[in-house]
Amino acid sequence: MILITGGMGYIGTHLVLELMSGGEDVVILDNLCNSSRSTLQRIVRVAGKAPAFIEGDVRHRKTLDHLFKRYPIDAVIHCAGLKAVGESVREPLRYYDTNLGGTLTLCQAMAGAGVFTLVFSSSATVYDDCAIMPINERCRTGHPSSPYGQSKLMAENVMKSMAEADPRWSVALLRYFNPIGAHDSGQVGEMPALMPNNLLPYLLQVASGQRPSLSVFGSDYQTPDGTGIRDYIHVMDLAEGHIKALQALRCAQGLHIWNLGTGLGHSVLEVVKAFERVSGVAVPLAFKPRRAGDIAQCWADPVKASKELGWRAHRSLDCMLDDAWRWQMSYRRDAAEVLLPVITGTPSLTTSAGSLSI
Ligand code: NAD
Ligand code: UD1
Repeated sequence: MILITGGMGYIGTHLVLELMSGGEDVVILDNLCNSSRSTLQRIVRVAGKAPAFIEGDVRHRKTLDHLFKRYPIDAVIHCAGLKAVGESVREPLRYYDTNLGGTLTLCQAMAGAGVFTLVFSSSATVYDDCAIMPINERCRTGHPSSPYGQSKLMAENVMKSMAEADPRWSVALLRYFNPIGAHDSGQVGEMPALMPNNLLPYLLQVASGQRPSLSVFGSDYQTPDGTGIRDYIHVMDLAEGHIKALQALRCAQGLHIWNLGTGLGHSVLEVVKAFERVSGVAVPLAFKPRRAGDIAQCWADPVKASKELGWRAHRSLDCMLDDAWRWQMSYRRDAAEVLLPVITGTPSLTTSAGSLSI
C-alpha cells in the first residue's frame, strides 16, 4: 500500500488516480489546508471507488505513527507542502515548518515504522539561474530565490544525508518543471483556492470570464518573442513519472534525482496562442513589467529519467491546454450547481473522524 501525503491536492489527486488505475492500494494523508473534501467525490467518479483518506497533518508524529500501524504501507509519495512563492516570502516560518519540518517528521516516522521507500515532490526552483539550457540534474543548486525554494532544497539535503547514513533508504527526488493540465476525464484538475499566481490557472480564469485580462509579466526578455519560457508538463505525464520512479526504487537503494520535464520550452505568448487555438476563446492580454524573481527561461534535460526510468513525457502542449480547459468548464458547471456524485451506492470513506458516507 502506498501513502500519498498531500494526496487531495492538484498533483496528488492525479497520482492517486494513476496508482489506483494500476491496481495499487492507496491511503491519502492531507490536512485540507489547500484542498477540499469534495475532491474525494471526484476521485470516486473517475476511479469507481474511494481511496482511504485520513484528514491529518504530516507534521504530527502521532498521526503518522497511527497511519503506519493501521495500514500495510510499504512506500510513501510525499506531496504535502505549501507552494506559493510570494506567500513564502511573507510567511517564511510557515513554509519551513511545513515543507522542511513536515519532511523531517515524515522521515522519522517512516524509519520508526521500517518503511524506507520515499518519493519526494521537489521543484526545478532548486536550480540556480542557469545561462545554459536545458537544465540537467548536475546543474548547480544552492541559491533558490525564495523561502519556498530554500525549503525544498533543505528538505532535499536532509534526505541526501539520511540516505548516505543509512543504506536501507531508497529515495527519489523528483524535480518538477511546470505541471499543468488535468485528468482527461475532465473531472479532476487544479483548484486554486485564492487568486492564482501561476500562468495557466490565471489564463483559465480570464478565458472563463472571471478576470478581465491576463498580465504578461515582461516582454523584453532575451527570448524569441520577449516573454518568459518554461517547460510545461502534463500532470498525467508527471504522475506516470512517479510510478516509474517508485518501480525503480523498489529494486534500487540510495538516493536518485530525476528531472520531470518535457525538454521543450514554450513562451507565455506561445501558450496563449495555443490555448486560443485549442479552445476557440480569445484571451485579452495586458503587458506588464517583469515579475520580481522571474527568470527568462527554464527547461529540463529529461534524458536521465528517460535512460534510467524508461519514462518520457509524451503529451503535447495542445493536449495539456485542452484537458485543462475541459476541467475548467466542468468545475465551473459543478460550482454553479450542487456537486452530485454520479455513482450509485454509497462507498465508505475513512477519515480521522471515522467513516464518511458520500
Ligand atoms: P497543492 O497545494 O494542490 O497540494 C498540496 C496538498 O498538501 C494540499 O492538498 C494541502 O492541503 C496538503 N498539505 C499542505 N500542508 C500539509 C500538511 N502539513 N499536512 C498534510 N497535508 C498538507 O500543490 P500541488 O501543486 O499538488 O503540489 C504538490 C507538491 O509538489 C508540493 O510539495 C509542491 O511544492 C510540489 N511542486 C508543485 C509544483 C506545481 O507547479 N504545482 C511545482 C514543483 C513542485
Ligand atoms: C513558479 C515559481 C516556482 C514554482 C512554480 C510552481 C516563481 C518565481 N517561481 O514558477 O518556484 O515551483 O511556480 O508553483 O514564482 N506569467 C505571466 N502572467 C501570469 C503568471 C505567469 O506572464 O499571470 C509568466 C511568468 O512570468 C513566467 C511564466 O508565465 O514567465 C510561468 O509562470 P508561473 O506559472 O508562475 O511559473 P514559474 O514562475 O515558472
